Amino acid sequence: MENQHAKALTAMLTLDEKIGMIHGAHLFATKGVERLGISPLVMSDGPMGVRQEFEPDHWKAVGGPEDSVTYLPCNSALAATWNRDLAFAVGSVLGAEARARGKDIILAPGINIKRSPLCGRNFEYFSEDPYLTGELAVCYIQGVQQWDVAACVKHFAANNQETQRLWVDVEIDEAALREIYLPAFYECLTRGKSLSVMGAYNKLYGEHCCQSQHLLHDILRGEWSYDGVVVSDWGGVHDTKLAAESELDIEMSVTDNFDEYYMAEPLKKAVEQGIIPESRIDEKVTRILTLMMRLHMIGGKEQTARKSGVYNAPKHRQTALDTARESIVLLKNDKGKNKDKPILPLDEKSLKKVLLVGENAQRLHADGGGSAEIKALYEISTLMGLKMLLGGNVKVDFVKGYQSGTKSAKDSVNWQEKSLEDGGGHGSKQQDENQQLAKERAALRKEAVEMAKAYETVIYVGGLNHDYDSEGLDRSDMVLPYGQDLLIQELLEVKPDLVVVLIGGSPVEMGAWIDRARAVVWSYYAGMEGGTALAEVLLGRVNPSGRLPETFYKSHKDCSAHCIGEFAEEKKVCYKEGIFVGYRFNETFGVEPAFCFGHGLSYTSFEYESAVYEAADSFVTCTVTNTGERAGAETVQVYRMAADQEILPIPEETAALQKLRPVKELAGFGKIFLNPGETGQIKIALKGRTDTGVLGVGSSVKSIRRMISGQN
Ligand code: BGC
Repeated sequence: MENQHAKALTAMLTLDEKIGMIHGAHLFATKGVERLGISPLVMSDGPMGVRQEFEPDHWKAVGGPEDSVTYLPCNSALAATWNRDLAFAVGSVLGAEARARGKDIILAPGINIKRSPLCGRNFEYFSEDPYLTGELAVCYIQGVQQWDVAACVKHFAANNQETQRLWVDVEIDEAALREIYLPAFYECLTRGKSLSVMGAYNKLYGEHCCQSQHLLHDILRGEWSYDGVVVSDWGGVHDTKLAAESELDIEMSVTDNFDEYYMAEPLKKAVEQGIIPESRIDEKVTRILTLMMRLHMIGGKEQTARKSGVYNAPKHRQTALDTARESIVLLKNDKGKNKDKPILPLDEKSLKKVLLVGENAQRLHADGGGSAEIKALYEISTLMGLKMLLGGNVKVDFVKGYQSGTKSAKDSVNWQEKSLEDGGGHGSKQQDENQQLAKERAALRKEAVEMAKAYETVIYVGGLNHDYDSEGLDRSDMVLPYGQDLLIQELLEVKPDLVVVLIGGSPVEMGAWIDRARAVVWSYYAGMEGGTALAEVLLGRVNPSGRLPETFYKSHKDCSAHCIGEFAEEKKVCYKEGIFVGYRFNETFGVEPAFCFGHGLSYTSFEYESAVYEAADSFVTCTVTNTGERAGAETVQVYRMAADQEILPIPEETAALQKLRPVKELAGFGKIFLNPGETGQIKIALKGRTDTGVLGVGSSVKSIRRMISGQN
């Protein structure tokens, strides 16, 4: 029906009008056709909220406070909740706010696989696991699209490094591409029904993804029968004929020479010269019009039929808070010195003086990271969160302890305009130690360590920031920047019960001090209420239930993308590790991580009573009891396991990897909330069928018990 109407409407359009609809006529909008009531398609970034307004044709912020929005936890934080309902709720906030801000397409979610911990955009992505990514992203998309706004799942596909992101050519065994890098897209576009998808900047098998025959024609439209709209990444198109002949529908870019875009005047000329048949343009326009109908943008009843959305609603902030609470991961919590209980939670009643050390206690993160930057309505830092909750009877002090670099992404105004020039994003340099900085840092460190001696409770809040977790930039290693390792070590000397809180978008090395640190908390960029949630977890008002959606390697060298495959190459990058990405590699070949996939502690304890596999409908029913003294949530994880769990040697010839299977693969998960002493049952749907093989159930990829045989 929609398609018939769209075709009829397309037939009424002139070539000029159609060309106007298939390329950016502004930085974030196409042209409409006023005489027929077709409005432009208006887009905006991005995953953590609706981005600030720019002038239509310049990367200049419009300014004013009206475009401040709900700042949502990043996708990695969302993934750490392992909670489908929250994914839906977060998507719903984004959709409602995008709609209320007048957008038709919101350029989210980013669902690329976290192949290496060094990729600068990891914070925008969910996980190293395709199943976890797909499950959460589908819910997120459904949340967005209930508001008559299209999600635009990105970046299709194999966009896993920022180095030379416009030119790097990914070479990967096709079976691995289909098993690891494509399934989440497949889920989002078929089950999730994402109305649009964004092509990636990089090349795959020698073709630029935004104009690739293999990806867009053979797989997307052919095998998956996808009839939604394909949008290019901004500047991802390189050739008029290839783009026109591909299944790309809209070309967007970062420069203001809109008429010169490949699918603008040059395409019009090619059609007039008979090089490209006009029918190719008609197909694209028909899909765009179909999308508009699906969004109730056209058809005469726009005002009444289309949802209007709402932004900055109090309940949106509640969703941000709920998500932040469940995203925080308690990595380690040993007993304190001379104490018979774990360090966390802190005993709120006995607190008198607390010292927070570390720039991240105070630093705000919304406004950074590249196109995912957010102009937040507000953002609560950890320092503010603790002060807010503890009130006037507890003295909460702060000392910086370390100094981040002076140059940040923000300093390069309009970075996006120049983002095509070096093949990457804004290219802000990572902050290396120089002599002057080293001196300043030594002084800050000394000051903090001296101060710490006078406090009973010292909380370190460090990690990364968006000078590191950023579009257009990969890290060169996982080492904590700004001399933090030394600072943490020295603090531990004087305060063995130091609580270490790290904030970031990707894991960091902890080897220098992890054995001595007794309590370690991890938080991804957790949105506007991140500081509140962290404070609640530290004080025990919230029982942490976040689980790592990725492997925390001891060093990036233990990650298969680095020790087997290639990463951050400039021209061609070969994914020699094949399907052995993340825990699939570590578990199969016995490489110990610092903290494994799925790991996360709680202030209570859980016991698994039984798990039963129901082959008929491919479910596992698991009975769990909260055996501790606090209410809490357990994330029950089901893995499909190899019958033989023997650790294999890493083959010398990478081709041999193609014959091997990972010993464990996530096949299902669910989260259950239980009061102290309570026993509950959770029914977990399994991915695909598991007639053969063995299933394991537990609370992380390492702590699973082989409880159920596929034959039961
Ligand atoms: C990014 C996209 C983003 C687009 C528009 C590009 O630089 O790769 O993720 O949606 O810009 O800002």
